[in-house]
Amino acid sequence: MSISQILKLYFLQYLFLVLCLPRLGICAETDTITSNLVIKDPDTISSQGNVFKLGFFSPDKTTKNRYFGIFYSVSESTVIWVANRNNPIPDSSGSITISRNGNIVLMNGKGEIVWSSNITTSSLNASAQLLSTGNLVLRENSSTLWESFGYPSNALLPNLRLIDNINTGHKVVLSSWKSPTDPEVGSFTTGLQALKIPQIFTWNGNRPHWRSGPWNGKILIGVQDMYSVYLDDFTVENDTSGIFYFTAPEGKFLMRYTLNSNGSLAKTLWNPQTQNWDITWSAPQNECDVYGTCGPFGSCNALNSPICSCLRGFEPKNLEEWGRGIGTSGCVRRKPLLCGRNNNTGGGGKEDGFLRLPFMKVPDFPEQGPSSPVEECRSLCSRNCSCIAYAHDTNLRCMFWSQDLIDIQQFSGVGEDLYIRLPSSELERHKDKKLIIIIPIVAGLVAILICVVIYWWLMDRRKGSKRKVDTKLYEAGQTYPSDSAEIVLKDDLDKVNLEELPLFSFETLANATNQFHDDNMLGKGGFGPVYKGKLADGKEIAVKRLSAASRQGMEEFMNEVVVISKLQHRNLVKLLGCCVEKEEKILVYEYMRNKSLDVFLFDPSHPSQKFLDWKKRFSIIEGIGRGLLYLHRDSILKIIHRDMKPSNVLLDEDWNPKISDFGMARIFGGNQDQANTGRVVGTYGYMAPEYAMEGRFSEKSDVYSFGVLMLEIVSGKKNTSFYNQECSLSLLGCAWKLWNEDNGPAFIDQTIYKAESHGEMVRCIHIALLCVQEFPKDRPTISTVLAMLNREIVDLPVPEQPVFAEKWNRSHVTSFQQSQMGVSINDVTLTMLDGR
Ligand SMILES: *[C@@H]1O[C@H](CO)[C@@H](O)[C@H](O)[C@H]1NC(C)=O
Ligand SMILES: *[C@@H]1O[C@H](CO)[C@@H](O)[C@H](O)[C@H]1NC(C)=O
Ligand SMILES: *[C@@H]1O[C@H](CO)[C@@H](O)[C@H](O)[C@H]1NC(C)=O
Ligand SMILES: *[C@@H]1O[C@H](CO)[C@@H](O)[C@H](O)[C@H]1NC(C)=O
Ligand SMILES: *[C@@H]1O[C@H](CO)[C@@H](O)[C@H](O)[C@H]1NC(C)=O
Ligand SMILES: *[C@@H]1O[C@H](CO)[C@@H](O)[C@H](O)[C@H]1NC(C)=O
Ligand SMILES: *[C@@H]1O[C@H](CO)[C@@H](O)[C@H](O)[C@H]1NC(C)=O
Repeated sequence: MSISQILKLYFLQYLFLVLCLPRLGICAETDTITSNLVIKDPDTISSQGNVFKLGFFSPDKTTKNRYFGIFYSVSESTVIWVANRNNPIPDSSGSITISRNGNIVLMNGKGEIVWSSNITTSSLNASAQLLSTGNLVLRENSSTLWESFGYPSNALLPNLRLIDNINTGHKVVLSSWKSPTDPEVGSFTTGLQALKIPQIFTWNGNRPHWRSGPWNGKILIGVQDMYSVYLDDFTVENDTSGIFYFTAPEGKFLMRYTLNSNGSLAKTLWNPQTQNWDITWSAPQNECDVYGTCGPFGSCNALNSPICSCLRGFEPKNLEEWGRGIGTSGCVRRKPLLCGRNNNTGGGGKEDGFLRLPFMKVPDFPEQGPSSPVEECRSLCSRNCSCIAYAHDTNLRCMFWSQDLIDIQQFSGVGEDLYIRLPSSELERHKDKKLIIIIPIVAGLVAILICVVIYWWLMDRRKGSKRKVDTKLYEAGQTYPSDSAEIVLKDDLDKVNLEELPLFSFETLANATNQFHDDNMLGKGGFGPVYKGKLADGKEIAVKRLSAASRQGMEEFMNEVVVISKLQHRNLVKLLGCCVEKEEKILVYEYMRNKSLDVFLFDPSHPSQKFLDWKKRFSIIEGIGRGLLYLHRDSILKIIHRDMKPSNVLLDEDWNPKISDFGMARIFGGNQDQANTGRVVGTYGYMAPEYAMEGRFSEKSDVYSFGVLMLEIVSGKKNTSFYNQECSLSLLGCAWKLWNEDNGPAFIDQTIYKAESHGEMVRCIHIALLCVQEFPKDRPTISTVLAMLNREIVDLPVPEQPVFAEKWNRSHVTSFQQSQMGVSINDVTLTMLDGR
């Protein structure tokens, strides 16, 4: 040891004494309070790793009030636990220590006890340690006497357990502050309600304020955002004595759930870059999330106006209130049920039936039935007159309801099927009513349909084919297992706003495009050319003229009209209208100034670097992802696009991506996850293996295409004409190889590569590789992909090698194609017909 080192050591020791002694031994080194250590305002002690600190603070700078609590080291104003919530010290004379009887005590300047851990113990040598989890634990002889996690304030941290003892009723709950600057116990609490089926509640006093819906072993089924697989890994556990525990998962970043003084429960993540807390989720998010907004038998839909409606077969209890938009009084049955009625006065009548309501947040007070298949749930419920509704969840099995159905919400795209018991007359009446609505719609549709049918018939006759029209909607309908399939189907049809879709005359469009002049041609899709046009009022449009020769064209045309007329999203192209005249079928879209993505990615004559830097590309990836998420999850219907590729992604003047070309899209029923088709359509190179080989498609096959697209965007290279000096493999194979070799830069488009974005680019390759895995079940859902992209999911799993990785596996697919019909392969969307 050199002299200077020794001197330095002495100096440090001296410094240590100077700093520590006068304050009776408060050293930054310790995380433990003992009986011979007094912490005086404003001293603090830190947990190991210095994540949390313990000390005095004043949340309200306008007063001198001091509180003792635990806060984050990185953000000292973010308090997670307060000792003397209801009893502030009016000056900075407070101190804390371990009392002679072994309690943690907080004293004011006069030596009076302001707060105490208040346990009865005869301990002699207790000490309190601030753990790195943020828990302050009082121990003696390694047995825990008291811990702050047993008395939480308004913050739920990982490892903190919310407890419900169903035998004694004892609960450990979060309790809100009185106001953002006053830690006094407020009116809101959040905790676990474990009786029957565990649910999380926020209460306002004794009244429920928000309800998570039942815990099904994996997710809370009444929380819409939770359907995206592993965004959160909560656990609910119980022990044999009937104590239930709810815990939040630990993540890489600092995370907490806070119950705010206004009753909103918010998840916040520490963002080390911005040094700020990001709110990533909160509940209630809207009025529909507030418990019982629409009262008993009322259903809330945040997308409707007014948000409340009565369940079918029910009418508002207080019409006057409902008229004013106040739904809390709820609804009452219009006609009594047969079940339970006196059979003599009932005078016969058909048995009650059940109506299926898809995509619901199930009502409160569920009771768990025996484990049984869904049909069994129904017969169990129909046999018991006090059962007025049932539902089935794969994990929870049967759920039954016998009380008033309250806190029901209509989700879109996610949720459970709820079956409610209705008298048969209500079920029939509904059908009649629907017919009355349908007649005018049919009248409105006649103009289109007559043309379409005649055209179809002509084309069919010309081809000598008697094949039945494959209407996607009806196919989807067949997969509904229940009696209400028909009703649901009609609902879907009602939502097609065909009558709202403007019809353009052929003449208008011919004039707009200068008689479909080649100079105005924007590109050529699989089913015909697309022209730029200008209407008389100067509005620019894109006109897709489906080639008259293709029989498929008609089907795709109808499909596109049906699909896209229902969809509205900023990342989907908007259909302005259509034209069906004589042999012509034409679609009219909004015009996209920046054409399609492939032009800028792959066209060497474009200085793409100038236009599409990494930031833009990343936001394009995100935009496409959001568009897909809307198709898969958030729209009224579940839609599989089946033909994701750069040429189908259009860019507006702000470079926002818009998914186009819904000619291949398929609509799925709510429960349907996968379908088979004899007719494989799509574009080679973007098709998932199970789809290309076996015709099986699902949302995961879109995820596959999205993965390929991401790799193309990152590399700036086209999958179907790929070559790279680093590896003589396919695009996928090359990405896999270079990613495994940690050689991302060799894969990334050299024109956009920047060292500071390296991490983000490589992460994109990683996520893309997860999307292109061979087995659909291994691929993440699109919502998970988005969560990964924006780092809500930080740790990415390791991908499996993609199936088309090893060699440019053209031979495999080509032989399959040739055996079918021998299509030549290029970037044009190809269609393969089943031999039969
Ligand atoms: C301590 O606990 C006793 C009962 O266990 C209770 O009566 C008393 O109010 C508590 N004191 C404080 C300061 O919480
Ligand atoms: C008091 O506790 C400390 C650790 O908490 C332990 O090292 C010490 O031996 C204990 N003393 C007695 C007398 O039990
Ligand atoms: C801890 O151990 C000491 C000595 O063994 C004993 O006197 C004391 O009661 C113990 N404390 C507790 C809380 O069990
Ligand atoms: C508690 O957990 C056990 C398994 O550990 C389970 O068998 C039991 O049914 C649970 N009790 C309740 C009331 O859910
Ligand atoms: C509730 O309070 C939090 C934090 O104070 C705030 O972010 C949120 O917007 C508030 N919510 C409502 C509905 O007022
Ligand atoms: C009414 O009759 C049906 C069969 O016709 C029977 O299942 C039901 O239990 C009867 N209800 C009452 C209240 O007697
Ligand atoms: C009918 O359902 C009610 C409520 O779910 C339940 O309490 C009752 O035991 C059931 N009756 C029969 C005969 O199953």
